[in-house]
Amino acid sequence: LNYLTPKSREEVLDLLVTGLKRLEYRGYDSTGVAIDGPDNKSIVMVKRTGKVKVLEDAIHENFSGGEYSEPVATHVGIAHTRWATHGVPCERNSHPQRSDEANSFVVVHNGIITNYNDVKTFLAKKGYEFESDTDTEVFAKLVHHLWKKHPNYSFRELVEQAIQQVEGAFAIAVKSKHFPGECVASRRSSPLLVAIKTKTRLATDHIPILYGKDAESGKPQVLPRSDSTSEFMPLEEKEVEYFFASDASAVIEHTNRVIYLEDDDVAAVRDGTLSIHRLKKSLDDPHAREITTLKMEIQQIMKGNFDYFMQKEIFEQPESVVNTMRGRVRFDSNSIVLGGIKDYIPEIKRCRRLMLIGCGTSYHSAVATRQLLEELTELPVMVELASDFLDRNTPIFRDDVCFFISQSGETADTLMALRYCKQRGALIVGITNTVGSSICRESHCGVHINAGPEIGVASTKAYTSQFISLVMFALVMSEDRLSLQQRRLEILQALSKLGDQIREVLKLDSKVQELAKDLYQHKSLLIMGRGYNFATCLEGALKVKELTYMHSEGIMAGELKHGPLALVDDSMPVMMIVLRDPVYVKCMNALQQVTSRKGCPIIICEEGDEETKAFSARNLEIPRTVDCLQGILTVIPMQLLSYHIAVLRGCDVDCPRNLAKSVTVE
Ligand code: G6P
Repeated sequence: LNYLTPKSREEVLDLLVTGLKRLEYRGYDSTGVAIDGPDNKSIVMVKRTGKVKVLEDAIHENFSGGEYSEPVATHVGIAHTRWATHGVPCERNSHPQRSDEANSFVVVHNGIITNYNDVKTFLAKKGYEFESDTDTEVFAKLVHHLWKKHPNYSFRELVEQAIQQVEGAFAIAVKSKHFPGECVASRRSSPLLVAIKTKTRLATDHIPILYGKDAESGKPQVLPRSDSTSEFMPLEEKEVEYFFASDASAVIEHTNRVIYLEDDDVAAVRDGTLSIHRLKKSLDDPHAREITTLKMEIQQIMKGNFDYFMQKEIFEQPESVVNTMRGRVRFDSNSIVLGGIKDYIPEIKRCRRLMLIGCGTSYHSAVATRQLLEELTELPVMVELASDFLDRNTPIFRDDVCFFISQSGETADTLMALRYCKQRGALIVGITNTVGSSICRESHCGVHINAGPEIGVASTKAYTSQFISLVMFALVMSEDRLSLQQRRLEILQALSKLGDQIREVLKLDSKVQELAKDLYQHKSLLIMGRGYNFATCLEGALKVKELTYMHSEGIMAGELKHGPLALVDDSMPVMMIVLRDPVYVKCMNALQQVTSRKGCPIIICEEGDEETKAFSARNLEIPRTVDCLQGILTVIPMQLLSYHIAVLRGCDVDCPRNLAKSVTVE
């Protein structure tokens, strides 16, 4: 919404498309945009199947020059990039979805409306005909139905009524030709923020929440602490631009001042003012939503000199792991302070068990650190995939401590598991990379991994930073255990060298690229290891699958003889991780089992380990570190390998088919 400086429709479209590009990593099946038509009485929509670039080209072709270049003072536009849940990706199913042929109400939506069938049946009886297979369309039509029923309702009231009638998860933004210059947005379970751009610094750092309805006037009331009686709370600044977005990367080039909306907040902009409204107020509800100043920089979400975000993020790891430790690990005094959980450490030490819960790569960081956590905390440690954990209705007790690991902090399965555990009284610890995310806000305490924004859909630097965060937690938990001091010291020393050692591993890039040339035409890749490196096998295989569409499997070397060995012959590509750690001898057994079946594995081994290298002409040597941190150094060649295979196979590295970075649906 633009009130700051008049912009043309062309500029508004550009602004929306740039925002979509920044959000593309969340979904890229199809895209769409809606703006006011040149007459200001109609809404124009453009929708395309495929990535934002396709939409951008269509816009340049059809909406440039003439009346589209004339400045307008106030303008509302909405846009969306989709990751299909209901209905195949096509123009008809892309957003905005509309209420009727006249585009009276148009809606963009993230999430799933689970009762959409019931709402659809109800609306069909009222005469509505549906043109898409989406759940979103019912919302647009529902608002339209309510508008016909309640002609005196404000736009905000209409949307508020509609969200009372839908179930499931949503972040929505609605635009209407009946309410020009207005936009209403709301969320439940899916993330949504309001960003505010003003010419000078805002005179306020909060927006009061309006609650309920005044019985007499029917208008919502501002409850105590605010003396305003107006429904809309003007900011001191008259000229202001508002942005609604599902994450900050879409808006950071315009402003770093944002408000994270809470479930069932209804935010409305009208006449250049923003209001946040909630239908009911319970005792402990706050009076205002705070405006947060973000530290994110635009450069952090640009590719720089790299070809892909993923490549950039792999090469950022020498710095990102150090950023995770910054201000927390003091190498001179061998001490660690995790500010976000320090007050809870005594409670955590008294717990019954630790549960580590996540999805995808985040789950693998739990697998990678479980052994060290067991060793240094002497507590039972369970690692769980969030979806399976929920399916099993896993018993949870008040004295459990549950860690929720998530780069985005928004993954629906992980968030649902968090709420499940919170309801049962467990202590909730969030390990996330996204300040202000739902998992962050709903945790009792936690650790920000501080890896910086991760844009590539395949997670890389977030994994190594999650890994380090959990290692730091293990070190904190064992601070006062005399018998563990030697071990702690060894790990701390290794942590201090890690950044440089990652730099060394990254020098393998061209060697890995050569290996990729051998492998990229194969159908499958088996990755074997055990102990501290089993997680690398799982994570490496996930990277290969998601980026290259090749089959790949991470195999626990101890299980080789119980089945997977049958896959091995002289043509099956195999990688084996064989390091000088407590499971070295067992790994060597597995290596021999493979080579005696004519397998020719690529070996990841320690620098200068001639004995192990002798088993294969193809090997990658990594620097020596303490056993429990090896996983950081072994995963990097796997990240590079999957990247190079993907490039050779012509795959879209940053946006693998069928996937999205943040999966905000169950
Ligand atoms: C998606 C992404 C994965 C990621 C997983 C968990 O599937 O494609 O790369 O590991 O979600 O995401 P989170 O944000 O919770 O770490």
